[in-house]
Amino acid sequence: MTRKGILLAGGTGSRLWPITLGVSKQLLPIYDKPMIYYPISVLMLAGIREIAIITTPEDQPQFQRLLGDGRQWGVSFTWVVQERPEGLAQAYLLTRDFLAGAPSAMCLGDNIFFGHGLPEILHRASGQASGGTVFGYHVSDPERYGVAAFDADGRVTRIVEKPKVPPSSFAITGLYFLDGRAPDIAATIRPSPRGELEIVDVLEHYRAEGSLRVERMGRGFAWLDTGTPGSLLDAGNFVRTLQDRQGMQVGSPDEIAFRQGWIDRAGLERQAQVFGKSSYGAHLAGVLRD
Ligand code: TTP
Repeated sequence: MTRKGILLAGGTGSRLWPITLGVSKQLLPIYDKPMIYYPISVLMLAGIREIAIITTPEDQPQFQRLLGDGRQWGVSFTWVVQERPEGLAQAYLLTRDFLAGAPSAMCLGDNIFFGHGLPEILHRASGQASGGTVFGYHVSDPERYGVAAFDADGRVTRIVEKPKVPPSSFAITGLYFLDGRAPDIAATIRPSPRGELEIVDVLEHYRAEGSLRVERMGRGFAWLDTGTPGSLLDAGNFVRTLQDRQGMQVGSPDEIAFRQGWIDRAGLERQAQVFGKSSYGAHLAGVLRD
């Protein structure tokens, strides 16, 4: 069965208040593009063309105005509402009908990935028919994340959410490749003391049965989250620095769709015209010239 994508773009964004009182975090700019462009690009790079986008009820119309039905990129978006932010694992319950037994790749709407060889590791994860793949990334502050513990052979022995004493420096990033059983497994877990269905509990289920792979993303990768004012600004500066230096875009769904052959030249030309005078539009025109 073809793997389907889930983009989790609900939440309250309370660490960004008052900015996010009036607009979803995932619609905020990361330099020259809306935040959600970056995780959409990741799913598209993994070869995924059917994507469910989960938002709050209030924010859904704005996301639809921005993204439409996906046709401009040769993909299709299915719109799903999360009434209350009751945890990342709830996404699998909300998308049960959409997935219809298919394996999935879920990306958090506020996670940005960049690095040489990203498409390869995404394809490798996507190609695994059963079990799950997640990515471990070395961070300076693991206590803020879900953290993987490893045994002497490098096998994962445990995943713990926000540990006071982290068992390693490897945080689990917000990108989860799981097989078609994920909705059933999510249905068996209970809310945590903070009232959320925790993704680590779903991952722990796979780990306990020996079917969870934790791939380490090495030094050559950037994994940024954007949930606080400082990290939001840092991510924007990071993207700007790379793009200005290289003259290439980070996280352009238009360019990815074109390179994957999901849209043709005329399709990309149309998009370049839509974005007209903006630097993003100029970049798309440049892709056409190259
Ligand atoms: P978080 O950063 O954990 O939560 P948040 O975005 O609500 O922000 P804050 O902690 O500042 O209040 O969420 C990670 C991502 O997952 C983010 O893109 C929002 C999304 N999310 C949902 O869509 N639904 C949920 O129930 C939760 C908890 C998060």
